[in-house]
Amino acid sequence: MARIIQAFEQELAVAALKRGMPVAMPTETVYGLAADACDDAAVARIFAMKHRPQFNPLIVHIASITQAKQLVVWNSMAERLVKTFWPGALTMVLPRAADCPISLLASAGGDTLAIRMLRHPVAQALLVACGTPLAAPSANRSGRISPTTAQHVVEEFTDHELLVLEGGACEVGLESSVVDLSGEVPCLLRPGSVTPALLEEALGSPVMLGGNHAHSPGMLQSHYAPGKPLRLNAQEVRESEGLLCFGQPAQRQGDETLSVRGELTEAAANLFALLRRMDADPRISSIAVMRVPEEGLGLAINDRLKRAAAPRD
Ligand code: TXA
Ligand code: MG
Repeated sequence: MARIIQAFEQELAVAALKRGMPVAMPTETVYGLAADACDDAAVARIFAMKHRPQFNPLIVHIASITQAKQLVVWNSMAERLVKTFWPGALTMVLPRAADCPISLLASAGGDTLAIRMLRHPVAQALLVACGTPLAAPSANRSGRISPTTAQHVVEEFTDHELLVLEGGACEVGLESSVVDLSGEVPCLLRPGSVTPALLEEALGSPVMLGGNHAHSPGMLQSHYAPGKPLRLNAQEVRESEGLLCFGQPAQRQGDETLSVRGELTEAAANLFALLRRMDADPRISSIAVMRVPEEGLGLAINDRLKRAAAPRD
């Protein structure tokens, strides 16, 4: 069962995060389901708990602006916005830095990362204490309303062992504004309490609304698609193909395995890194993927694989 803990019990939350387990934390917008953003398996557990049918990219919460600059390619628009709105209810999407240590799963395999510095003192203290950025979507099951009290979170996750850090009712109660700064023109992907007018005032330039398609979450273009052709539900492997296995070890050179034991959480944690590795492997010219069961996290894995296999121009 999910269990509420108080701020003075923070070390329990830190210990759980260090073990790779998600923890619910308060923020000034909504409660988040947080996990170590550098740990693929921990991030995969977030998707499993939320029952997300797709790998939407996640917001990564950081303790300081210095830490943010190590994760993404900073620019002058970001510099202006953080002066006015951080810490607070603003999330910025920026290109991942070349040596970005954050799980690719948090970027849904893409080249950008959403980052946010929180104002809530309980969350700030947690971030400092655990010393690692925390990936956190809203702490609700997929398709349900975002929680704004610790008790809401408990009601969402009745059948999970989950620590919920108490932080009172959320002050804003509405998810953060998400602005994409990875292109030339800043683009508001999700409206929130930081309005377009406030953004434009801070930037001194116009902001596009609604998101251009190339950067909208869930759109094919926003996701990493391998350059090599990809074949699904492979039962045998053909010449010059690499086999991406599930439920068995990789056997030949150029093959990889999502999970030897057929575990979906492990498979999700490995998915994007293995697709990239196989795409770059000169020994193979196309990728065959074994069947992944269409249940639980398998839905999101298959959604992503289908996109990667879709014909492109
Ligand atoms: O207030 C909030 O933003 C809360 C707290 C916990 O920070 N988080 C939250 O996360 O609402 P979530 O996962 O429910 O929504 C994150 C939004 C989604 O619309 C997602 O598609 C978008 O941010 N997003 C995240 N990373 C992105 C990226 N790299 N590119 C474009 N959109 C991104
Ligand atoms: Mg949400």
